[in-house]
Amino acid sequence: MRRPIIAGNWKLNKTPHEAILLVDELKRELVDVTGVDVLVCPPFVDLSEVSDALVDHDIALGAQNVFWEDSGAFTGEISAPMLKDLGVAYVIIGHSERRQYFHETNETVNKRLRAVLKHGLTPIVCVGENLSQRESNKTFDVIKDHCEGSLSGLSVEEMKKAVLAYEPVWAIGTGKTAAPQQAQEVHVFIRQLLGKIFDADTADSVRIQYGGSVTPDNIVLLMAQPDIDGALVGGASLKAPSFSAIVKGAKK
Ligand code: 13P
Repeated sequence: MRRPIIAGNWKLNKTPHEAILLVDELKRELVDVTGVDVLVCPPFVDLSEVSDALVDHDIALGAQNVFWEDSGAFTGEISAPMLKDLGVAYVIIGHSERRQYFHETNETVNKRLRAVLKHGLTPIVCVGENLSQRESNKTFDVIKDHCEGSLSGLSVEEMKKAVLAYEPVWAIGTGKTAAPQQAQEVHVFIRQLLGKIFDADTADSVRIQYGGSVTPDNIVLLMAQPDIDGALVGGASLKAPSFSAIVKGAKK
């Protein structure tokens, strides 16, 4: 049985001051929630204060990116040991916005992934097709390419520690959620692929989140799909009432 996992990807939103207000509200709203892994992924500059605010609370902390080297002359970058020292437990890797705007490739995703695993953090690896790829029936080719490229060289043990997120680019921030069956179809494809690359046990145990316009209104039907194990939430994670409603709706 895979435990549901709901992550809030705040993207480029919330100053440190605003972040604390949101986290304080979330702590109140989610105080009685059990059976779901919950995490928030604020911008780097918020991590320290949010980490302090989450001490002794079940909400975990994630980062939105990481560099692959531990230290050195890499101006502007942040490393896995730095994140770990702050109490970060998860790192989103290969988000489509990073692929689209910041030249992220399968190769760089793979380097980040190895760094995250080396330091005992949990990666959330994002894959997903854009609109023209979907319309030209290339969805499965793109997913295969993203999975094979990003996960290249991982051992079974490493893969079992990772979380995947299927985020169709056309559904991100557009209000167009993939229909639950449409998402389920891709999640099954990913799981079968994991079975081929790794083994059946790994395929069965890895959690696959769906992301793209998830709201309190669609979370229940999405989570009702057998291969959807959680959600990576953007816009609706920026307000405590909507994010906590999604967490509560995610209990299988
Ligand atoms: P939205 O929920 O705003 O569509 O964003 C999804 C996403 O990109 C999460 O990583």
